[in-house]
Amino acid sequence: SLPTTFDEPILLGVIGGTGLYKLSCLTPVAKLTVQTPWGLPSSPITISRTPSGFPVAFLARHGIHHDLTPSDVPARANIAALKSLGVRAIVAFSAVGSLQEEIAPRDFVIPNQIIDRTKGVRPSSFFEKGFVGHVGFGDPFDAALSEVLAENSDVLLGQKLHSKRSASDKDLVLICMEGPAFSTRAESKLYRSWGGSVINMSALPEAKLAKEAEISYQMICMSTDYDAWKEDEEPVTVEQVVGNLTANAANAERVISAILEPVELAIMEKRVGYTLEGSMRYAISTGP
Ligand code: ADE
Repeated sequence: SLPTTFDEPILLGVIGGTGLYKLSCLTPVAKLTVQTPWGLPSSPITISRTPSGFPVAFLARHGIHHDLTPSDVPARANIAALKSLGVRAIVAFSAVGSLQEEIAPRDFVIPNQIIDRTKGVRPSSFFEKGFVGHVGFGDPFDAALSEVLAENSDVLLGQKLHSKRSASDKDLVLICMEGPAFSTRAESKLYRSWGGSVINMSALPEAKLAKEAEISYQMICMSTDYDAWKEDEEPVTVEQVVGNLTANAANAERVISAILEPVELAIMEKRVGYTLEGSMRYAISTGP
């Protein structure tokens, strides 16, 4: 069995969503159980090294046996655990439904905006109990990290990668809903009218907490269905989501293998992972 301690800082974290329960392109070197003031994270954190020896921390968002609903994911413990290891950048994966014709099932999407349709039932901040802070969330994802990912994820077999590469490209808006039931057709059409591109149940509060923790964060989405808006198709089912994830596993592997080292380089050169350093100092309203 693997060592349960690891004493170098780990700068890069990967959070796996549905269908991604380990980093199969790398060999694990340690498996850590990290206790935090917010409890245990969703899964033990597996440490692997890239070919150049750079350590990467991997966490399975829904647990290794997928026993956590999106509402039950201990997001504060997950982000706090990664922070305690030294993580400065997180690449998070998620299955999503497509709200646009041109985002076909099995395409990959790097969103740049989020609309929050969770229902306030998920603890979404580290600030509470008389300690007030308001983090800026105008740009929920890290632009520099997003650019590195977009530049290097274009390795897909027969599928498209959708990303916003310049100011004139249209926004890629991720709707994050509560679940666990999928949307009605009317809701799905409403989200399209809002400019939604894709929909999931997992980006929040993860992205907010990463911002509070001063960690660069970007989500990479894999489209698995057309949600419920398409009149000529049956609305999404879990079978469809898992079927497309499984069928597209080779593309997921290709994306992960292609991004790890460029992200590692960007962190080493401090192009990624350092822009939020100290930002929370200006977000706290409570006096000393
Ligand atoms: N995850 C994958 N497909 C989804 C959908 N259509 N709605 C919400 N979450 C999803």
